[in-house]
Amino acid sequence: MNLMKKMLAVPAAVLALWAVTAQATTDEAIAARLKPVGEVCVMGEECKGVETVAAAAGGGARTADDIIAKHCNACHGAGVLGAPKIGDTAAWKERADHQGGLDGILAAAISGINAMPPKGTCADCSDDELREAIKKMSGL
Ligand code: HEC
Repeated sequence: MNLMKKMLAVPAAVLALWAVTAQATTDEAIAARLKPVGEVCVMGEECKGVETVAAAAGGGARTADDIIAKHCNACHGAGVLGAPKIGDTAAWKERADHQGGLDGILAAAISGINAMPPKGTCADCSDDELREAIKKMSGL
């Protein structure tokens, strides 16, 4: 870079910054930027942004994916201690077939079975939340 370009580079950066700031000077523009993501989501349709915001805020509904990532993946991700692996539908189906279907393995997951701790360590998970997590992991 020659000296002339170096000398121009700094003011150019300042100018660019000013231009960006100037774009948001009206109250309207600022209000539009501050609008919650929820307002651009359609009711009844999946809205990725809101899900992410809710998860980041640590409140609101947690998804089956959240529960799996936080509580189940530790063992079911790699199949630790003989846990059926996530996505290995055949392994889950085999269990379900011998234990009264999804309800049967759900009951075992709630009470715990061998090395599987009660509720898979998600002590505050509802039965429905566990069911969704099991469905998602097993593909059943
Ligand atoms: C500490 C490790 C561990 C964690 C954490 C864990 N599991 Fe398991 N899970 C196991 C093991 C091991 C088995 C196999 C138990 C057996 O049959 O001997 C199992 C089996 C299961 C079964 C099948 C039960 C049956 O009747 O065959 C379900 C359903 C299940 N887990 C759900 C979950 C869910 C949902 C979570 C998360 C909320 C979870 N697990 C977290 C270790 C774990």
